[in-house]
Formats: sequence, structure tokens, C-alpha cells
Amino acid sequence: MVPSPLPIPTWLLLFFISSAAALQRTFEIDYNSNCFRKDGQPFRYISGSIHYSRVPRFYWKDRLLKMKMAGLDAIQLYVPWNFHESEPGKYQFTGDHDIEAFLQMANDLELLVILRAGPYICAEWDMGGLPAWLLEKESIVLRSSDADYLAAVSRWMGVLLPKMKPLLYQNGGPIITVQVENEYGSYFTCDYDYLRHLVKLFRQHLGDEVILFTTDGADVGLLRCGALQGLYVTVDFGPGTNVTAAFLSQRHSEPRGPLVNSEFYTGWLDHWGQRHSVVPSQVIVKTLNEILMLGANVNLYVFIGGTNFGFWNGANMPYAPQPTSYDYNAPLSEAGDLTEKYFAIREVIRKYKKIPEGPIPPSTPKYAYGQIALVKLNTVAELLNTLCQGGPIKSIYPLTFVQVKQYFGFVLYRTTLPQNCTEPTPLFTVLDGIHDRAYVTIDGVPQGILERGKSILINITGKAGADLDLLVENMGRVNYGRYNNDFKGLVTNVTLGNDTLSYWRIFPLDIDSAVLYGLQNQSPASQPLSDTQLLAPAFYVGSFSIPTGIPDLPQDSFIKFTGWTKGQIWINGFNLGRYWPARGPQVTLFVPRHILTTSAPNNITVLELERPPQGEGKYIVEFVDTPILNATLGYDMKIVQLFSRGGGLGNL
Ligand SMILES: *[C@@H]1O[C@H](CO)[C@@H](O)[C@H](O)[C@H]1NC(C)=O
Ligand SMILES: *[C@@H]1O[C@H](CO)[C@@H](O)[C@H](O)[C@H]1NC(C)=O
Ligand SMILES: *[C@@H]1O[C@H](CO)[C@@H](O)[C@H](O)[C@H]1NC(C)=O
Ligand SMILES: *[C@@H]1O[C@H](CO)[C@@H](O)[C@H](O)[C@H]1NC(C)=O
Ligand SMILES: *[C@@H]1O[C@H](CO)[C@@H](O)[C@H](O)[C@H]1NC(C)=O
Ligand SMILES: *[C@@H]1O[C@H](CO)[C@@H](O)[C@H](O)[C@H]1NC(C)=O
Ligand SMILES: *[C@@H]1O[C@H](CO)[C@@H](O)[C@H](O)[C@H]1NC(C)=O
Repeated sequence: MVPSPLPIPTWLLLFFISSAAALQRTFEIDYNSNCFRKDGQPFRYISGSIHYSRVPRFYWKDRLLKMKMAGLDAIQLYVPWNFHESEPGKYQFTGDHDIEAFLQMANDLELLVILRAGPYICAEWDMGGLPAWLLEKESIVLRSSDADYLAAVSRWMGVLLPKMKPLLYQNGGPIITVQVENEYGSYFTCDYDYLRHLVKLFRQHLGDEVILFTTDGADVGLLRCGALQGLYVTVDFGPGTNVTAAFLSQRHSEPRGPLVNSEFYTGWLDHWGQRHSVVPSQVIVKTLNEILMLGANVNLYVFIGGTNFGFWNGANMPYAPQPTSYDYNAPLSEAGDLTEKYFAIREVIRKYKKIPEGPIPPSTPKYAYGQIALVKLNTVAELLNTLCQGGPIKSIYPLTFVQVKQYFGFVLYRTTLPQNCTEPTPLFTVLDGIHDRAYVTIDGVPQGILERGKSILINITGKAGADLDLLVENMGRVNYGRYNNDFKGLVTNVTLGNDTLSYWRIFPLDIDSAVLYGLQNQSPASQPLSDTQLLAPAFYVGSFSIPTGIPDLPQDSFIKFTGWTKGQIWINGFNLGRYWPARGPQVTLFVPRHILTTSAPNNITVLELERPPQGEGKYIVEFVDTPILNATLGYDMKIVQLFSRGGGLGNL
């Protein structure tokens, strides 16, 4: 016989229930009081954006701590899908890709997290975070209910979201809200079934409790396709906006609930060939004050921008790629330094809430390692066996990067000159088919450069039977708008005189691996190739040791390319990014100290695509202690007019 349980007195039962409720972590929307509620209490957040993919893991804690000390309650971050799944089914979640460690770090510092999980993020990031391999289906309609797109999204979210679930606020983690898609109302597809699919997916993996939201420009027209029932509508707008009017557009979709500006711009982005964006602190302070006075929630986009290391920058249309630096004129500089804007914003926040006591982590020291002489190695064409160990792919007509399964960097297209071009003969593509820049040589002799949207025809000379090479650079995929499906390489046929060129040998180049495994050891080329202005794309290498006897080295630095034209640089195999001082506005690249070592000489590899500094033995790069992001060389008036209208592009 089973004994009947002892009766539990009602008062004890009530005690259990109420203490369970007190322990229960909740984050909810209170539609009656127009606010969020955290653990039952009214709550308003002041947040700042940081992109873990643009800050080395080595510096995550330093930057988060500086954000905390500014008085922020929360950080907001994007998850770039292509950063984690750069090849289908191959996931990267370690080292700089360890988003869970990053979120845990935020949690340890008692920073809440607003997670913008994608799949699309914009963010001036290659293809807005969508993996290029989606384009293997040429006709795919991105950000729609296209069956192949949805299948890929579902698979990815099935990997990402289960990792996020334990990190939700209700489950003891920092994530209070999760964004679905990103400014979808600015995109042309306007496909509610797609949004509904995402909601279903997010709910299935994250549960019913978490607040899911959308963000769109503060404009009723944009909210038409961006908003969906079941997703809390938030807006974004920058300094100088009429705050009342902007929030009225949110009220149009959400008559009640907390006011939220999910992207309040602290600065603005840059493009190569455009003036460096600077937004004065006074205008930011004024509008931020107006937002906070209304009791609204706000996220400062960005609090720190960081760096587009490697090949990660995006581009806008008409085609204009963004530079390596994503400094953004933000309150924390690219290198994480405290700026005057940081302190100005902190003073505004201080008026509305208590900010943490204690010292703010100082800006990191910078060191000018000085001038380093490089020597010239071989040209890209001479190193093809090393750079493309699998050998060329043969095709009658050109294939795109995606078709040869190379997503970033460079592909060399080679064919044989079919005719004698004794007279200068036009080489061109009909429909602006060079994506994005081709460095043209014939038997190693430079002929000129074709560039998307800028230079679609050059004249060449050469003998029948010679190698015609087009080294094509992917300068970053379009991250915003209709032209997001940005194919790279030779995307149309190439014409010589009256003839379509054919019988191509296509070399996908794995330069990152070649640099890592000993491009250094190649024997230097003996003869200078040409006296002309343009040289064939070639590698230059050198090394430097960290001085001894100076405490606390290595330190961060900036590398400057005086006299160089355009290219890519690696230090100890780490792909730092693109340099292009000939066009500007960025002239120096950020060199974080964690890639430097005191235990061996540090190796520099430069791929100069056009022209190194002139004069034998003058291949100097220089480490300096101050960045230059605002030089106006190669100023492109057309681009300036297109992009200087600020928010006109949609908030990016
Ligand atoms: C801001 O917008 C509100 C609402 O549309 C309007 O009433 C107000 O006059 C505007 N303020 C200014 C300074 O334009
Ligand atoms: C190109 O010119 C050379 C003489 O310079 C001649 O021998 C050859 O047949 C020509 N080739 C073609 C394809 O016209
Ligand atoms: C190519 O050559 C033609 C004929 O000589 C000339 O008219 C044209 O300007 C040249 N084009 C370029 C881009 O050099
Ligand atoms: C190149 O031209 C050929 C023949 O006209 C055509 O079949 C092919 O589709 C074209 N390729 C591209 C990439 O435009
Ligand atoms: C192209 O064809 C036209 C007409 O047939 C001819 O006059 C011209 O010389 C050709 N051009 C070249 C570069 O072969
Ligand atoms: C730089 O290259 C040299 C020669 O290959 C090598 O001995 C050294 O370890 C390299 N330095 C680093 C930091 O990898
Ligand atoms: C670039 O920025 C520096 C530092 O803020 C400033 O001193 C300099 O005047 C600026 N140069 C240009 C050309 O705007």
C-alpha cells in the first residue's frame, strides 16, 4: 500500500510559487506602460553595436569593458552567416569565430545582448552576410521564399539558433531580444511568406518567450514590407532627425509598447575614393538627448566599428566598395581608442542613469616600428603553381568565382591571343562584365586595368600565341539592395577586336595558404620586369623584429604604404586587408599586436597589383603610431555625390 502524501499547507505552497517567480528571469513587452519589463520591473536600454567579426578575440574584453564603462546596458551584434559557413556545411565557431564565448564574455560583464541573427545583416559586410555559395543556383532569389534559399537558411538556423537558446535571458544568458531579418522593408521582394518562415524557424529553435523584432527605416512606406504580425516593430534613424516624427512611424505599426531606435548613427561609412565620413559629437549628443528624454530605448550604431580584415568588406551600388577600416567615426576608434565622442556620449547617458564607477580601460599604446625594406619576389603569373596547386579549370567561356568554388580574393583567367595585335586592339566586356577589377598582362607585360563601372575598355598589343592574363580581383560583394546577388570574376564574355575570346584556363588562387606556407621561400625574381608605369601584379616580402629593451612590446601599430598603389597585405600569414592609398581616403591599416611576436622575425607579405614605389630597392613600408583615414587622394567626385546624402541610402 502506498502511503498518501502529507498534505502541504497552502501558505507553504504559495511561498514556493512566489519564490519561483522571483527567481524566474523574464524579459517582456508591457503594452500598457509602453516599456520593456525585465524581471517584472520597467526597463529601458541604452545599447551599442559591436561586431565580433571585426574585432580580434584578443581585444573583445577590452572593447566590451569600455562599452560597459560608458554606461551602456546592452550590446547589439550581428551574426554574419558567411563568417561561420563560408563553405556549405563547413562551420567555424572557434577562435575569432566563437560567438558563444563572446556572448558569455558580455554576460560575465553584465552586459545584455540584442542579437541580430540574420540571415541577412547588411552591415557593410560582404554580401550583407549571405554566403556567396548561395549563388551556385544562378537564378536564386535571395531573401525570398525561393525553395533553395529557404533550405539553406533553415539548415543554418538549425545550427546557429540551438547555440543561442541557452544564452537567452530566460535561460540565464544575456540575450534579451532577437532580430529577424534586417531592414527587410527596404528590399524589393516584399515576401511575407519568407518572413513567416523565419518566424516559424526562430520560434521552433528559441521557444515562444523571447521577443522577436524587426528594424526598418523610420518611414511608414518602409514598414509596409518590413513589419509582420508577431514581430515587434522597431525603427532606425540618425542624428539631426525629427525624433517625434521618426517614432510616429513606429507608432503607426506599434500603437503601444516601448519606443526603440535600433540604429542611431554615431558616424557614417566610407567608400574608396570618397571623403572620410565625420559626424560631429554635438549633433549626436543633441539627438541622443531627445531620444532618451522621451524614455525611448536606443542602440548606438556603431559604438565601435573595427576592421574589415582579409576580404570581408562589402560594397554599395553603383559599385563602390568600402575600405578595410570600419572606423565609422564611432565613439571607440577602429583600434578601440577612447575618443572625445566617447566622453560626450557618456555625459549624456550619465544624465539618465547611474554609470559604473571605476577607471575606464585606457586606449592601448601604439608603437612606430619604423620603416621596413621589402624585396620583390615573383609575379603572380610566375607563382601560379604555388598559388593554384590544383591547376587550372578549362572552359570555353569564362566561369564566375562561384562556378570555380573560389569565393574571395583573386582568380587568374588565361587564354591565348588568337591573332597578332600589332596595332592597339580594343579588349572589352559588353555589359560591364569585370567584377570587379582586372589586371591585364600579355606574356607578363602589363597592358592596363579594367574596372567595374569605371573602365570597360583598354587597347592591347601582343603576338598571336602569347598568354593573355586577366588577374581578377573580387573587391567585396554588394551588401545592400537589389544587386545583392553579386557574381564575381568575368561575368560576361571578353571581346578582343571583333572576336569573343574563348578556351580559357581559369586559376582559382589560394593566396592565403601560399603566404602561410612559405611564399617567403621562393627565390626572388632577378630582372626588373618593365620600366612602364604599371608593373605586373607581384609579391614583395620583408621581415622585422620587435625591438628589445623596450617594455610592453609588441604594441598595436598602423602600417603605411607611401608610394604604393593598391594591393593586399599579410603579416605572419594574417590577412590584414586591402590597401589603396592611391584612391584613399584610408592610407594606413590597423595592425593589432596579437599578430606580432617577439620570438621570431615578423614576416610581411605584400601583393602589389599596380605599381610599387619607384626606384630600385625603394620598396619601403612604414609602421607609424597614428592612423590616417582621411586623405583625399584619388577623390572620386561621382561617388561623393552619390553617397554624401547620408541616410538617403537607408541606414546600412
Ligand atoms: C517634428 O515632427 C512633429 C510630428 O510630425 C511635428 O509636429 C513637429 O513640428 C516637428 N518639429 C520640427 C522642429 O520640425
Ligand atoms: C602573326 O605574325 C607572325 C609574323 O610576325 C606570323 O608569322 C604569324 O603567322 C601571324 N599569326 C597570325 C595568327 O596571324
Ligand atoms: C583605343 O584605341 C583607339 C584607336 O586607336 C582610340 O580611339 C581609343 O581612344 C583607345 N582607347 C583607350 C581606352 O585607350
Ligand atoms: C559567351 O558567349 C557564348 C557564345 O555566344 C555564349 O554561349 C555564352 O553564354 C557566353 N557566356 C557568358 C558568360 O556570357
Ligand atoms: C572588325 O570588323 C570590321 C568589319 O568587318 C573590320 O573593318 C575591322 O577591321 C575589324 N576590326 C578588327 C580589330 O579586327
Ligand atoms: C618568418 O619567416 C621565417 C623564415 O621562413 C621563419 O623562420 C619565421 O618563423 C617566420 N616568422 C613567423 C612569426 O612566423
Ligand atoms: C584628418 O584627420 C586629422 C586628425 O583628425 C586632422 O588633423 C586632419 O586635419 C584631417 N585631414 C583632412 C584632410 O581632413
